[in-house]
Amino acid sequence: MSQSRLGEAHHPRPQWKSRLGFILAAIGSAVGLGNIWRFSYLVYDNGGGAFLIPYLVALVVVGIPLMILELGIGHRMRGSSPMSFAKVSRSWEWVGWWSVLLVMYGIMLYYSTVIAWCVNYVYHSFTLAWGADPNNYFYNEFLQLSSKPFELGDIRLPILLSLSLVWFLCWLIVYFGIQKGVERANKIFMPLLLGLILILVLWSVSLEGAAKGIAVYLKPDFSKLSEKKVWIDAFSQIFFTLSLGFGIMIAYASYLPRKVNIVKDALIISVGNCIFSFISGFAVFGTLGYMAMAQNKEVSEVVSKSIGLAFVSYPQAISLMPAFAKTFGVIFFSSLVIAGISSAISIVEAFSSAIIDKFNYTRKGVVTFVCATGFFGSIIFSAKSGLYWLDIADHFITHYGLVIIGILQCIIVGWIYRAGKLRQHINKVAPDSLVKFWDACVMYITPAILTFLLVNAFIKEISSRYEGYDMAPLLLIGPVWLVVVMIGSLFVAMYPWKKELEDLEHEHE
Ligand code: ALA
Repeated sequence: MSQSRLGEAHHPRPQWKSRLGFILAAIGSAVGLGNIWRFSYLVYDNGGGAFLIPYLVALVVVGIPLMILELGIGHRMRGSSPMSFAKVSRSWEWVGWWSVLLVMYGIMLYYSTVIAWCVNYVYHSFTLAWGADPNNYFYNEFLQLSSKPFELGDIRLPILLSLSLVWFLCWLIVYFGIQKGVERANKIFMPLLLGLILILVLWSVSLEGAAKGIAVYLKPDFSKLSEKKVWIDAFSQIFFTLSLGFGIMIAYASYLPRKVNIVKDALIISVGNCIFSFISGFAVFGTLGYMAMAQNKEVSEVVSKSIGLAFVSYPQAISLMPAFAKTFGVIFFSSLVIAGISSAISIVEAFSSAIIDKFNYTRKGVVTFVCATGFFGSIIFSAKSGLYWLDIADHFITHYGLVIIGILQCIIVGWIYRAGKLRQHINKVAPDSLVKFWDACVMYITPAILTFLLVNAFIKEISSRYEGYDMAPLLLIGPVWLVVVMIGSLFVAMYPWKKELEDLEHEHE
């Protein structure tokens, strides 16, 4: 079908200005809220230094192969996730929609809320507002947490205000497009984030007692490696931290020029992200070591789980700082805000590019629509029951949604498009960069491991109700939402393309 018959020209595909810009944006997407405290906690909880073994295995057998798959298919098809899969086969287009819709109207809704909490805590750091009891402050004064998920409670105004700021920033950055928006923002954010984290690391390790904290962080307990949970945690962390299954890397690679080394870039992004997590751990545990010493306690007594680590343990440590406590707090929470925003914009971009590809609307209109609906959707998470909603949504999307999408991607690219064909494409652009073993990973090893994870998560799920929540909210916010979004994806996928997919492909040959 010619352009004239359609009566409108398709928007030309944007491109990154430089390779560095692309790499910074992709690392910006990967390095997020999870890297700073979730990784450290997982290492601590799962055998200290020994956890690095399953973590590295997960990086090698799932993380890097899937990163190459996503970058490769996005580059080959020059399209967002739905467009790339539709070009492989129209019947699989829905998988692309499912991933971007689920991430946008699932993960992003609560992710933006956690960034909003961090914005509030930057502000609270100026007065150390949490006082002597950060635990009570966080749950009872700041969140005013209700007693169960369906006891919604009022909207928390301070959270709502920061939430609108977060969405406004995302809108502003993505609105200006790839080069002037996403690339430019990451060129500022990433060096800034690295600088702030290095300040935190050096500061923390120089505190008295820091060595004790770091010893707890890294001391290997190899006996833990026989536990299934340790391996499951390592694999799911790799998935989330590298933003795999989000449709982001596919969209980002579609803006690359023809001549690129996909394998090299995939390695830089994946390994860079993991090194960042590892380094941040020193800041987290150095500080906890200091806090334990200051309170005459064991490190194990002052550490708390994921969200509690950032919003309860860390504020407590900040209050105990011998000097410049407020500055320390501002730096810590600002780095969380920056890490969060650079990931959030990549989510908005992945979904916006999918709509632009399919419906040929203008970027500005699409981004405005996406951010407005996203903002309204996230308001529910700023209610007094928000933390429960966040916890349930996060559990089901990351343990099931992303993993199923990962398996489907392996089937679509590995078996339907053929792994060998994509490898040839990658090697044509950068000769001999990808070895044949990758085919085996994508076709057998990665999907087999992901299926194993899925089955085990499911067995655990039916044997005990997640965190003891009531059945109704658990089902509604979890599996029902996953299925509703999947049905929505099937409908969107049935809609005709504004322009024939073959034409689009030839245009870019
Ligand atoms: N990859 C992002 C993170 O780790 C989403 O937070």
